[in-house]
Amino acid sequence: MHKKSAAIILAAGKGLRMGTDVPKQYMILEGQPVIYYSLAAFDNSKIDEMVLVAAKEEMSYVKELLAAYSFQKPLLLVAGGEERYHSVYQGLLALKDRNIKKVLIHDGARPMLTEIMINDILGQLDDHPAWIVGVPVKDTIKVLNEQQEVMHTPNRERLWQVQTPQSFEYAQILKAYQQLILDKREVTDDSMVYEYYIQKPVKMLESTYENLKITTPEDMLLAREILKNRQKKAEKEK
Ligand code: CTP
Ligand code: MG
Repeated sequence: MHKKSAAIILAAGKGLRMGTDVPKQYMILEGQPVIYYSLAAFDNSKIDEMVLVAAKEEMSYVKELLAAYSFQKPLLLVAGGEERYHSVYQGLLALKDRNIKKVLIHDGARPMLTEIMINDILGQLDDHPAWIVGVPVKDTIKVLNEQQEVMHTPNRERLWQVQTPQSFEYAQILKAYQQLILDKREVTDDSMVYEYYIQKPVKMLESTYENLKITTPEDMLLAREILKNRQKKAEKEK
């Protein structure tokens, strides 16, 4: 039987750094909620299924939102958890027994990903079981001590800013997350979980600076401009 691919789209965060009443993933960006853009990109890609992870308290709102769009792919809706990694784990569990081989884990607060990027990653997973996407850092990075003194300046050529989707062979990342949940270790991305528990190389696929995460208000301004620019380009190509 054909082994499938799935996307876990995370939308269970509170958006504290944005500071708005409406969580950032539901804020309106060029006429659509931020979360719409990731769902649409996956729906238009070669992925087989989607899981949307949302906060328990926002389930009825999200159901209404989904009903307003007609996405083609099977879409499971599950409740997230306290931290991002709890939400990822709930997404992974929802895919158990669904014959999944490849899984892409994506921040719903990153609306600029494209179906081309998704299809590229799906292709890369045929050759290697763990991929992250990112871009070289533009600024010099300093490592400080607790007194705000510079301790160390890492070589910029080796520093990359990490984005999502982060993509893995499903069985491996599920196993890694099961360990993490038992250990109660703090992590900041999915690759860290894989690095620690699977201990096999994770490869970096170069993405674009446009694939930003909406975190603070100025990110909305930038996302709006990028979207407008894309729309202009698309109209020219018509
Ligand atoms: N996320 C999630 N479950 C959580 C925390 C985060 O599904 N318990 C999701 C967010 O909705 C977001 C993505 O993970 O799409 C990246 O997290 P982040 O940018 O940190 O979003 P928030 O946690 O919502 O924002 P903040 O940290 O500012 O509160
Ligand atoms: Mg957060």
